[in-house]
Amino acid sequence: MFENVIEAMVDAVLVVDVEGGVTLTNTAAARLTGYTVEELRGMPIARLLVDETSGLRTVVRRRIEDGAVLRREESWLVPKTGAPLPVSVTGSPVMSDDGLQGIVLVARDIREIRELLKAKESEIALRRKAEDDLRAANASIEEQLEETRQSLLLAERRATLGTLAGGVGHELRNIAQIQVAAVDELLGALSANEDVTALVRTLLPDLERVAEHITEHGKRLMQLARPGPDHVGPIDLNAVVRDVIAMLRGAGKLRRVTVVTELGPEPLTVTVNRTRIEQILVNLIVNAVDAIGDRNGTITIDVHPSADGKRVVCEVRDTGCGIPPENLPRIFQPFFTTKTEDRGTGLGLPVARGIVESYGGMLVATSTVGAGTTFTFDLPR
Ligand SMILES: Nc1ncnc2c1ncn2[C@@H]1O[C@H](COP(=O)(O)OP(=O)(O)OP(=O)(O)O)[C@@H](O)[C@H]1O
Ligand SMILES: [Mg+2]
Repeated sequence: MFENVIEAMVDAVLVVDVEGGVTLTNTAAARLTGYTVEELRGMPIARLLVDETSGLRTVVRRRIEDGAVLRREESWLVPKTGAPLPVSVTGSPVMSDDGLQGIVLVARDIREIRELLKAKESEIALRRKAEDDLRAANASIEEQLEETRQSLLLAERRATLGTLAGGVGHELRNIAQIQVAAVDELLGALSANEDVTALVRTLLPDLERVAEHITEHGKRLMQLARPGPDHVGPIDLNAVVRDVIAMLRGAGKLRRVTVVTELGPEPLTVTVNRTRIEQILVNLIVNAVDAIGDRNGTITIDVHPSADGKRVVCEVRDTGCGIPPENLPRIFQPFFTTKTEDRGTGLGLPVARGIVESYGGMLVATSTVGAGTTFTFDLPR
């Protein structure tokens, strides 16, 4: 019965006695080793099973000695032809009342599994290489993208430079008008032989401010070639509004309009470049004056803290002609203007918005045709 079971097994079976000699085997073992069943019988197991370190034999021997089960171990089976085959071996002790009688070794040919494993391994290696190639390709695409991005940035910068240069020219013209008006007034007074001391006293601060603007804008033109940060410092927005109104009034820009200021009693300090903020206010107020035109009208400038107290809000309201809804989305586009060529370039609002945004604020407009327009900007405190 025992022999029949052994014979029926697909794997090679070698029953070994305590001396290490093969006592019983099956056809599968004969097929695998190339020996006949008769040749195998009596053969020392050490001749059939070897491993590089002879570790298995030691293990088998030890297992035979203490009768423990040998779990799957990889080893080499030496067939008649001599070239060792890889096998996986399990072993279980054969016990009787007298103790250990021997061990049943079951050896399974693992060449096919090895081949499969090898194929899998090379497949994995291939896949890994494909992944590496893909990664490298991705990296080079990223690099190209970055290059494109850089050159796009450069192109965009060049385009912006044009607009910015136009913006600086625009401000210089605005400010030059103030100077011309002051000089005119002085000349008028002089030719009328009036005492100009008082007039000089009021005009000098304006002329000083004009000079500051020209210097700042000169700097800005140089910065366009090599950008650097603007000089910023804490300033009181209420004070800037007051100074800008005085300057525009001095230049005769506010002759026909009523200007109302709603300024808080306390200073509202923002950390900005003063000339930049003056530039925003000049642009918004000059636009309001233009919108009022020859009629009577009012410009209200309201400075107050935001609801959460973290920002300063400035509103410039006018009772001018208003902006038709179809124009409202376009007024911040560079060069959008409804004025004649000698009166407007369409750069005032985009420049003003750019400045506000550079400080992390927003400049927005609401308007009703025939009723007026409100521009609102905010700056962090
Ligand atoms: N307060 C306002 N009321 C009515 N329309 C306005 C007002 N402010 C601006 N606009 C409209 O928006 C347009 C663009 O204004 P922006 O200040 O950018 O340029 P501009 O005043 O036309 O020319 P520039 O300021 O360059 O001399 C104006 O031409 C005008 O049509
Ligand atoms: Mg303007």
